This record gives sequence, structure tokens and C-alpha cells, in this order.
Amino acid sequence: MLRLVLLLLLSGTHATHFLGTMMTYYPKQVHKDGFVMVSLRYKLGFTSCSHYDSWYCNGYCGNLIPTVQKIDMEPSSEWCQQEGTMTAVIYPYVLTQLVFAGGNWIDYIQNNVVAWRALTSVELGIRSDTKKPNISPQSTIIPAVRVPSNCQRDFNLMAFDPDGDNVKCRFGSDSLYECDPCAPPSVLNLTSSCTLSFNSTNSTSEGPYAVQLVLEDFPQQTITLTSIYGAQQTKTTSQAISKIPLQFVLRVDPVVPSCTEGLFLPKFLPPTPEHRATFLSNVNQPLTISIAAEAANATISELLFSGPAGVVKNSSGSGNFTLTWTPSVNEEGESHPICFVVQATLNSAKYHSELRCVIVQVELGMVVRLNMKVLSSLSQGGRVNEVVLQKIKDELVSMGLPSDSALRLLKSSSMLANATATSGV
Ligand SMILES: *[C@@H]1O[C@H](CO)[C@@H](O)[C@H](O)[C@H]1NC(C)=O
Ligand SMILES: *[C@@H]1O[C@H](CO)[C@@H](O)[C@H](O)[C@H]1NC(C)=O
Ligand SMILES: *[C@@H]1O[C@H](CO)[C@@H](O)[C@H](O)[C@H]1NC(C)=O
Ligand SMILES: *[C@@H]1O[C@H](CO)[C@@H](O)[C@H](O)[C@H]1NC(C)=O
Ligand SMILES: *[C@@H]1O[C@H](CO)[C@@H](O)[C@H](O)[C@H]1NC(C)=O
Ligand SMILES: *[C@@H]1O[C@H](CO)[C@@H](O)[C@H](O)[C@H]1NC(C)=O
Repeated sequence: MLRLVLLLLLSGTHATHFLGTMMTYYPKQVHKDGFVMVSLRYKLGFTSCSHYDSWYCNGYCGNLIPTVQKIDMEPSSEWCQQEGTMTAVIYPYVLTQLVFAGGNWIDYIQNNVVAWRALTSVELGIRSDTKKPNISPQSTIIPAVRVPSNCQRDFNLMAFDPDGDNVKCRFGSDSLYECDPCAPPSVLNLTSSCTLSFNSTNSTSEGPYAVQLVLEDFPQQTITLTSIYGAQQTKTTSQAISKIPLQFVLRVDPVVPSCTEGLFLPKFLPPTPEHRATFLSNVNQPLTISIAAEAANATISELLFSGPAGVVKNSSGSGNFTLTWTPSVNEEGESHPICFVVQATLNSAKYHSELRCVIVQVELGMVVRLNMKVLSSLSQGGRVNEVVLQKIKDELVSMGLPSDSALRLLKSSSMLANATATSGV
């Protein structure tokens, strides 16, 4: 009898576990028959890393089989953020929309949102300016950000566009089925340039809010999009090309004795990068970002971040942290945001620093094919081995080839060696 009651209670809490999502897309390759290979990435915030739900496609996306990996977890198990990545083979015959719908958000959401719903619109017509399909706006955020009810705070959300489009933010619209319901939090104002402002209020507004935003990309000048049938569509500077959701929880916390940064709310210190700083990185080479913060009247406990899965965080104590990311060849030529806050604790209270974000631009590697004749003392039929390749590389480096280049032998014949040099520059 008792066991049955416990099980019912468990399934009751199980239903309320969502803390937001987001999705971005990057077209990778256009096939002659009209199919476009598209890299889709999404983030899921849940109260546990074991929760999961799938996006589905309205359109022709083939089988969507994501790889899901953990990104970061709040240490007291408040949330876990995971990233799903998948390569969709999309046939852009109709407008492609990806939908995420289910239930439920976490308990006590102040703006009365229970069910979750998010929408991504994928535009894949060839742009007249870039001669390629559109890339969506890029953004990310941790599942829950905090502010004490008596403090003013601006959240400068990360929003950029690899095509150079203007990204605008707005609250989701019920009439466009972008959330269920969209219910913008009364305690927040949003500018179209993606600054979310919280003004100090009294304690009646404390609690979690579901923040359900939509980011759209607008061209800098009128462009045309050409579909696989040759049909053309114009987009003016006031017409959105694609749209992505950005959903998370804002927690309005109990009053803090002081809103001054560096006392209870952590304050970033050098060498923490400025908000929106850009880092260049190369495939297979680790990029490390150093972050430091202080809080005189609380204990700095954790760095919380959101970014591509595979970013590793490390702490060297006393408020010093690093984030390290080694991009893979799948991310070559792409730009990805990484956002973070530093959390401090005092008894059971948690305090967040401001939200900071950086952009990591993964450079396009350069592949050079070399045909070379090497005069060597190798006997007839001798093999071009690693030692010989290294000697050739040393020679090329002395002639100006970057030393981090990789040299691979494609073909060789007795008096001729064809080698390919892959350079990271
Ligand atoms: C939102 O903007 C209005 C008008 O500018 C202002 O009265 C209100 O205090 C703002 N609210 C917040 C939460 O900043
Ligand atoms: C915040 O609210 C106060 C009154 O409560 C108002 O005077 C002030 O203009 C508001 N600030 C912003 C940024 O909306
Ligand atoms: C708290 O603020 C809300 C909205 O700003 C207001 O309606 C309410 O009367 C305030 N409560 C107190 C106790 O001041
Ligand atoms: C913060 O800590 C300092 C000492 O580190 C103390 O003098 C000050 O009173 C504290 N402030 C608050 C608001 O508790
Ligand atoms: C994290 O930091 C510790 C201590 O400084 C170090 O031993 C460890 O190798 C680091 N791990 C990574 C992944 O950098
Ligand atoms: C941590 O950061 C402080 C500055 O905030 C610096 O003085 C100290 O050397 C750093 N410690 C480590 C272990 O990196």
C-alpha cells in the first residue's frame, strides 16, 4: 500500500521537469537533386540528464537520429543541459519546420506556462548574396538564470548570424504556435536587439518564469531566395528569413542585502573575456578560455555554461575556471556561441553573476595538393615512410609552411612522390 503511494508521488514530480530548449541549423551541402544536408543542433534543459524528448519535422527531413550528449549540470541537480546534434537530409519542397512539444515545465512557473512547445523554421533557398542556403541565427543560454527580486539586471542575450544578417528577438507568438501559451513574463522587458531587462520588484514576484523567445534573421539589404525549382522569393530588410526558439527559466530570488557586484553577486575579473568577444580556433586544436570571478560576501561555487557538447570545464580553485573546446571537423567553418555565469552560494541562497557569452569561430582548414619529385637515395622500390615524409615536411616548413600542417602521402611511384599537405591556416 505504502509503496504504491510513493510511486504515484514519483510520477507526479516526474511530469514537471522542463527548463527550456533552443535550436540552430547550418546547411552543409547542396546536392544537385535538391536535397540539402543540414546540421541541426538543439539544447534541452531538464531537471535530470536522464530526461529526453524528440523534435519532429513538418516537411521532408528524412530520419532524424540525434546524438545526445551532456553539456553541463548544475551541481545541486537543479538542471542538466544536453545537446542533440543530427545531420538531416532535407528536401525543401515545402517550408521545413521543426517542432518540439510536450509537457511539462517545472513547477510553480509564475507566468502559468505548463506545456512546452518550440518551433524552428528552416529556409534553404539559395541566397542571392552568399550563393548558399541561409544559416540560422546562433545563440545559446544556460537552462536557468537568477536575479534577486530587489536588483535591476540586463541580460544581454547572445544573438549573431554567420551570414551577417540582423538578428532580432521577440517573445513567442500564440497565433504562430511558437509556444503554448507564450505568456511573456510581466517582470521582463525585451528590446529587439535581445536585451532582456528585469527591474527590481517586491517579493510577490519571486519564483521561476518561463521565458519563451524567438530569434529571427533579417537581411541587411533586399535579397532573393531561389528554391530548387527556380522559384524566387524576395526578402526585404523587414522580412525574416528563418527563425529559431530560445527558451529558458528566469528565477526571481529572495531579496539580497546588496545588489553591488562583487559582494553577494559574483563579479567577473580579468582575464575573463568581454561579452561578445570572438575567438578563432582550428579543428583538433584545443581552445582555452579563462574565467575568474569574486564575491566577498558569498562563496564562489561553480561556473555554469552552455555551448557545444565537448566543451570541458575545469576549476583551479579560488574563483578561477577554464573552458576548453577542441572543435572537430564537423564544426569546420562554423561559429558557435559559449555562454556562462559564475554562481556563488551563501547557506541555501544561490547568486549569479551577469551572463557573458563569447563566439568561437572555427577556421576553414586549407587543403593543398602537392605533386613533387623527390630525389632521394632510396633504392629503387624503396618505401616513402614517415621518416621521409617528416624530412619533406621539415623542408617545406623551412620554406614557410605553417609547422602545424599535416602532410599525408596519397600516391608514390619509384621516382615520384605525390603528397598532400593539409594546413590549419
Ligand atoms: C518596461 O518598460 C516600461 C516602459 O518603458 C517601464 O515602465 C517598465 O518599468 C519596464 N519594466 C521592466 C521590468 O523593466
Ligand atoms: C524601474 O522601476 C522604477 C519604479 O519602480 C522606475 O522608476 C524605473 O524607470 C524602472 N526602470 C526601468 C529600466 O524600467
Ligand atoms: C508588489 O508589486 C506588485 C506589482 O508591481 C503590486 O501589484 C503589489 O501591490 C506589490 N505588493 C506590495 C506588498 O507592495
Ligand atoms: C560583506 O563582507 C564584509 C567583510 O568581508 C563585511 O564588512 C560587510 O559587512 C559584508 N556586507 C554585507 C552586506 O553583509
Ligand atoms: C583540471 O584541473 C586539474 C587541477 O588543476 C588538473 O589536474 C586536470 O588535468 C585538469 N583537467 C583538464 C581536463 O584540464
Ligand atoms: C586565481 O585568481 C586570482 C585572482 O582572482 C589569482 O591571484 C590567483 O593566482 C589565481 N589562482 C590560481 C590557482 O590560478
